[in-house]
Amino acid sequence: MTEETMSKHTSMNKVRKAVFPVAGLGTRFLPATKAMPKELLPIIDKPVIQHAVEEAIDAGITDLVFVTGRTKRAIEDHFDANPELENALAESGKTDVLEELRSIIPAHVNCVFVRQAKPLGLGHAILCARPAVGNEPFVVLLPDDLMARSTRPMKALLQNFERTGNTSISVAKVPKETLHKYGIIKPAASSAPGTVQVSGIVEKPSINDAPSDMAAIGRYIFTPDIFDYLKTQAPGVGGEIQLTDAINVLAQMGQVDAVLFQGRRYDCGSKFGYLEAIVDHALEHPEFGEQFAELIRIKSLNHRPKKTGS
Ligand code: UTP
Repeated sequence: MTEETMSKHTSMNKVRKAVFPVAGLGTRFLPATKAMPKELLPIIDKPVIQHAVEEAIDAGITDLVFVTGRTKRAIEDHFDANPELENALAESGKTDVLEELRSIIPAHVNCVFVRQAKPLGLGHAILCARPAVGNEPFVVLLPDDLMARSTRPMKALLQNFERTGNTSISVAKVPKETLHKYGIIKPAASSAPGTVQVSGIVEKPSINDAPSDMAAIGRYIFTPDIFDYLKTQAPGVGGEIQLTDAINVLAQMGQVDAVLFQGRRYDCGSKFGYLEAIVDHALEHPEFGEQFAELIRIKSLNHRPKKTGS
């Protein structure tokens, strides 16, 4: 590649927009999520979705597109200014909190909210973002997947996309007994260290049908072509328009790369993963981490597991 074509290729692959599909019903957290978005459940004092937004902004994304639903209006408020609260904080001299609130969405970042009228599936939710994304590449972050700050995968994914221009997805090795919860890739040749070409992907396979133990973990980069494939997708697993099925079409054409994620990840869409995220963040908390570690130690010494089967 000449320097000129290389820089053209790079600028064509410059990714500015991120889509956050957050219109799901969150049934695993009912009744907490009857009127409140599960994405605003806090990890101590920061909502789950704010972690994903920070990850996108840290990676250089400037336009955030949220696909929301009926019970999700509070997400819009969370990322909007709140002049009354800001004035009250300023008047009472709470400048640290004020600055923290103002920096949630830095001045150079824009937010757009679109609605998915019915929860017809993740693929359908992403299709709803089409008018806001337009004809350019974009990333998708599923906020349920919370990545530890030190090992966030988005930058590696963007580097791969800038290099190849292919749809790029983060994958992680998962235990066999959890394969049925994920989209599982069929890996082909390794294209660079830590990266494999994907020749297919299957949504929620049984252990016997799973093509590998590598699961898509809620971070993707797409070219706008994905919208055409989503539009023609028939409902798949669970009667929903599945993102996995559209990725599978691209994978069969050799246009998908998987970048292996080896960092720490929490599935905050499940109760246990959410609890683990809170415990880890509490243990690492600068103010009370050590005190919390001691509390956990004492609690687990006093804990007597319930006897089962007697
Ligand atoms: P999940 O199936 O994990 O989330 O969807 P859910 O449906 O909200 O939760 P449960 O299973 O009922 O507890 C993965 C992601 O896709 C979004 C969800 O908000 C979540 O971020 N999604 C799912 C949509 O935006 N629209 C849909 O129709 C379905």
